[in-house]
Amino acid sequence: MKINIDNERKLIEEMLKAYDVKAIEASIVADVITDGDLKGFSTHGLGRFPQYIKSIQSGTIKIDGDYEIEKETTSSAMINGNHKFGQYVTVKAMDLAVKKAGECGIGVVGIHDSNHYGIAGYYSDMASVQDMIGIVISNTEPAMAPFGGKKALLGTNPITISIPTDDIHNYICVDMATSITARGKLLESKRKGEKIPEGLALDKDGNPTTDPEAGLEGSILPFGGFKGYALAFMFELLAGPLVNAACGVNVQGTATPDVMCTKGDLLIVIDPEHFAGSMQFKFYVDQFVREIREENGVIPGDREIENMNIHMENGINVDDTLYNQLTEMAKAKNLDITSYFEE
Ligand SMILES: NC(=O)c1ccc[n+]([C@@H]2O[C@H](COP(=O)([O-])OP(=O)(O)OC[C@H]3O[C@@H](n4cnc5c(N)ncnc54)[C@H](O)[C@@H]3O)[C@@H](O)[C@H]2O)c1
Repeated sequence: MKINIDNERKLIEEMLKAYDVKAIEASIVADVITDGDLKGFSTHGLGRFPQYIKSIQSGTIKIDGDYEIEKETTSSAMINGNHKFGQYVTVKAMDLAVKKAGECGIGVVGIHDSNHYGIAGYYSDMASVQDMIGIVISNTEPAMAPFGGKKALLGTNPITISIPTDDIHNYICVDMATSITARGKLLESKRKGEKIPEGLALDKDGNPTTDPEAGLEGSILPFGGFKGYALAFMFELLAGPLVNAACGVNVQGTATPDVMCTKGDLLIVIDPEHFAGSMQFKFYVDQFVREIREENGVIPGDREIENMNIHMENGINVDDTLYNQLTEMAKAKNLDITSYFEE
């Protein structure tokens, strides 16, 4: 089964509105999910949507109320997400960080009590399309054992950095988990009844496994051995206690929809205009990209551009389990979404 991007967007908005989500929030959620699928992060695309519906049903995503700015200076802010959709809260927080960076060079916004937000790169891109540098760090429910240990005590803690460019052929962004693969990869493989490749996960006894279920019960390995683990460790603190969010085993609800989400996010935006100057910075960025390309080097972001072209053209694959989950959730609200899909 397949779905084209326009239909995917319509399906998400229609279903969220049927579940009483406000139009603005439904539109942002649809935007972030389709961006994930377009860029090839299917682990954080439509496949994650049923999790959000379950969170609405269990009340861990609140459809009423709004986020709050709890503290603010010219360059910083702290946001209480009040358990609204992670996508909505993070978009609003990023808007604020960009505004602050434009005014004084840097905008740093911390978020707590928000929800799972999908792909981190959507938010750092919001800065780069406005000629600024966007950085987002988050923590998640534990999935990774500490280096040398067996028990999952750290999240898959993603980081994304987006850099502005003047060349329309360039898109410069790295968007990655600090685990060797996102937890979503294991969830997706479990849903599809597939094994995971060797070298991604350990079972609860610390033995290598290709069974996604055993990996989810055990731990996912960090990328790059100790170095990936050390970054995850630091992000646990920067996206946790620094912003009044939980840390380590106390982080819940990013992968468990019936538990209130306690993770945190740290958004950093830098306006190059207040440093070397925007034009000059982008000139050197594009020169550096040309040097890398002349050596046939790959630019962080190349794969996303390639994937976007493929998925705009061909749509997104939807496996039977996901199709059944979605159609059942739609049926519960008397919606028929079958016409959005094609064989
Ligand atoms: N919301 C959350 O709690 C959460 C947690 C973890 C990860 N995530 C998201 O999961 C997604 C997937 O993360 P991941 O680490 O599994 O991604 P990944 O390993 O597939 O890719 C990581 C990055 O490296 C790039 N890359 C990898 N191989 C490449 C190649 N051969 N050529 C060019 N570029 C290449 C990708 O394009 C991407 O920018 C990300 O969008 C991340 O934000 C979200």
